[in-house]
Amino acid sequence: MKLKLALLAGAAAPAAALYGAPRPVQIIPSVLPADFAALGLDCTALEKAGCDRIQFDVMDGNFVPNLTFGPDVIAAQRKTTKLMFETQLMVSERCTDAMLPQFTEATKGPNGEPGVVIVHVEACTHIHRSLSNIRAMGGSPSVALNPSTPAEAVENILDLVDHVLVMTVNPGFGGQAYIPTMTDKIEKIRKWIVDRNLDVDIEVDGGIKATPETIGACAAAGANCFIAGSGLFAYDDMSQGVKELKAIAEEYQKK
Ligand code: DX5
Repeated sequence: MKLKLALLAGAAAPAAALYGAPRPVQIIPSVLPADFAALGLDCTALEKAGCDRIQFDVMDGNFVPNLTFGPDVIAAQRKTTKLMFETQLMVSERCTDAMLPQFTEATKGPNGEPGVVIVHVEACTHIHRSLSNIRAMGGSPSVALNPSTPAEAVENILDLVDHVLVMTVNPGFGGQAYIPTMTDKIEKIRKWIVDRNLDVDIEVDGGIKATPETIGACAAAGANCFIAGSGLFAYDDMSQGVKELKAIAEEYQKK
């Protein structure tokens, strides 16, 4: 109980030794803190900063209490960068079912490469079908879990995804506090992936900063893809932010 209280107080989580071989660290900015009056300029700047891909946080005001943008805005950014895209669908089941083709198409790479399309397990009654459809439409299917959703919710679909996104805040807004108790969930999913010899990345999103307590703890637990919004846009020189985030993650993978 004392450990949990310490963790909730934001104490540095004990760095567990990474289970299995480390996977390449990827820094993936969320556009949520970007200047929406000049989103294209920020996407160009993120490419120059050395980011690995860009995450577009799609919100419909139903699944989360916020509203952002649709597939046309994502597709328009293709003119501003050659980076690969990632679309996180924080939307209702109705929107997921109705618009998966448009989002999958908008997320594709500059030469039609599969873009990462993330559906929430909480918004997909028939998630096998949703993930298979994304793959069939030329996307890279991935699944996200809210903080209160147990790891077991994705235990039976790990063979269908390329990424598992463990939310480390409640989705809907940037700039929230990281939830340190999510490292247990990351470790559990990581063990399943390694023991089954699956080629699956674990992503984390929410409150990720260049600190041992956030990106360090998540890297040690098994995450290798890090979504940073306010934690990256806070840097005047975002290439410095990418370097610092990557350095801490790689250090804690080797702990
Ligand atoms: C949650 C959003 C945020 C955003 C990153 O719905 O998806 O997690 O990407 O926000 P920061 O990095 O500012 O916590």
